[in-house]
Amino acid sequence: MNRVTLGRTGIEVSKLGIGTGTAHPSGHCAQALMEREKLAELLVFAFDHGINFWDTAVQYGTYPHIREALKHVKRSDVVITTKLLSTHKKDTIRDFNDSLRALNVDYIDVCLLHGIKTERELKTKLNALDTLLELKREGKVRAVGLSSHGISALQAVTKLPEIELVWVRLNFAGICMDSCSLNIYDQRASISWIKKTAQHLLPERIRTAVRPKPESQLISTDDRQAVEDTVRIIHSQSKGVVGMKVLAEGQLKDDAQRSLRYVRDLPYVDSFIIGMLNKDEIVENCKTADVNSEL
Ligand SMILES: NC(=O)c1ccc[n+]([C@@H]2O[C@H](COP(=O)([O-])OP(=O)(O)OC[C@H]3O[C@@H](n4cnc5c(N)ncnc54)[C@H](OP(=O)(O)O)[C@@H]3O)[C@@H](O)[C@H]2O)c1
Repeated sequence: MNRVTLGRTGIEVSKLGIGTGTAHPSGHCAQALMEREKLAELLVFAFDHGINFWDTAVQYGTYPHIREALKHVKRSDVVITTKLLSTHKKDTIRDFNDSLRALNVDYIDVCLLHGIKTERELKTKLNALDTLLELKREGKVRAVGLSSHGISALQAVTKLPEIELVWVRLNFAGICMDSCSLNIYDQRASISWIKKTAQHLLPERIRTAVRPKPESQLISTDDRQAVEDTVRIIHSQSKGVVGMKVLAEGQLKDDAQRSLRYVRDLPYVDSFIIGMLNKDEIVENCKTADVNSEL
């Protein structure tokens, strides 16, 4: 598997990373529903196939699985990304330290502000960003950035030199990607979060209804152009760019190879994360992610 360096961070990752936050109709992450040992085995299998880049977040519920996997892989051989939703210094330090404890590690490679939709929202997170930069100076985190859920947030990144890395939703079909407005997809994602926290109170009928429908997730041609233009600028500023939603949460699974090759070959994307739930997907995706592969 090819290795790439994420922007100016010096962090080397495999071209393909493994995600542990794939949406499940229940509102949980599909990986969090797996037995701890099973997902750990999958992460180690991915590592043995050249994937040294593991993606998680406080909200995914997969820290126990990653902690288990780390019993079988040397800590310094793997690059772990996590994401925080906190806004203030106190919450950020608490969530960060909780993450260290839950993962049983003494540093995090990449820590991101999670799912930022707009420049305005990003401004409310500057305290959290400063705190992450302090943690970086203390050697507890190697690089900081954000995962984007809106074009306005992406555009704001171009004005913030402190942001070293960006996770951006990208696929050839323009599904589940960032748009200019808080679209139905994001609104439903928020509902999904509410549902997750209170789902035992909701009837089954409502639980399934809050999952976004594919046609509501297709962004406009203009939005798509804006995403690509902005990511190109971000990359030219020596920030690392990591693609996600490459298979649009599985909606593009019938076109998996085309989906992977599309993002793999974008000159402004360093690496990309895919949620993989079985070994066959890992083997197939490793082959396709290899730039020498013409499969
Ligand atoms: N930062 C954020 O705000 C944010 C938000 C969401 C996700 N993420 C991260 O990004 C990762 C990727 O997003 P995602 O998992 O939602 O979506 P995705 O990677 O676009 O799609 C994942 C789905 O693709 C299917 N798949 C994978 N390889 C395949 C293959 N070779 N052939 C056929 N199907 C294949 C799997 O389907 P099956 O279920 O059939 O196996 C899986 O459920 C997440 O896991 C998470 O780590 C970050």
